Amino acid sequence: MRARIVAGNWKMNTVPSEGVGLVVEILEKLDSKYTGDTRVILSPPFTHLIDVIDHVWEVPQISVAAQNCHHEDNGAYTGEISAGMISDLNIDAVILGHSERRQYFGEDDALLAKKVNAAIRNSLMPIFCVGEVLEDRKANKHNEVVTSQLTQGLFHLSSEEFKNVIIAYEPVWAIGTGETASPQQAQDMHKSIRAHVASKYGEDAANNVSILYGGSVKPNNASEIFSQPDVDGGLIGGASLNADDFVSIVHAMA
Ligand code: G3H
Repeated sequence: MRARIVAGNWKMNTVPSEGVGLVVEILEKLDSKYTGDTRVILSPPFTHLIDVIDHVWEVPQISVAAQNCHHEDNGAYTGEISAGMISDLNIDAVILGHSERRQYFGEDDALLAKKVNAAIRNSLMPIFCVGEVLEDRKANKHNEVVTSQLTQGLFHLSSEEFKNVIIAYEPVWAIGTGETASPQQAQDMHKSIRAHVASKYGEDAANNVSILYGGSVKPNNASEIFSQPDVDGGLIGGASLNADDFVSIVHAMA
């Protein structure tokens, strides 16, 4: 049975004091002894990872993810944060391959494959994002683009290593735009991703990998998207910054 997950990617939002306020509010609304079936992941900026993990470490169904890591374990890389530094804080996941990293920071498939290795080497679960831009979708190349991102970024992993991966499908045209993929578009892509995983790692691995949808998920559309058979949860951006909205999206997964 694969995990059902709602992850909140705060991106470069909230100063530490606001981040603490947000996690406290989320815990109050979820019930601080949250034991729901849906696993909740919070992904604040680096500056408040410790504060956030301090608030949730006693709640087994809630964990914390970083938003990025460097591909080397240490060295002269001023300003960078390694996967080992993150996992030493008892954090167990990292978002990699987000389209904003690909687009604004030039992260390509080859670099992302190295970052995935760094994460796995340091016991961090990669939440690996894939997704096509609007031109690809209009040209009917979306499946091709996404399968290539998966192959280049992840498929060098062994079967054992692949068990630790979460995939997030985020059509770039739906991120922060208010435009969501239709539930059918999401389902079609998630099904195609699962089939691609099966072709490399087999049916069991494909059935066990959680595939999250991201792109303008809000309280009013979450249930319909999450009801699709191959959608195992969501990677939430804007709506994860509002405790009411985020908690209502977590409940939509139930
Ligand atoms: O990582 C989250 C995604 O980029 C979705 O962001 O919910 O603001 O569209 P959004």
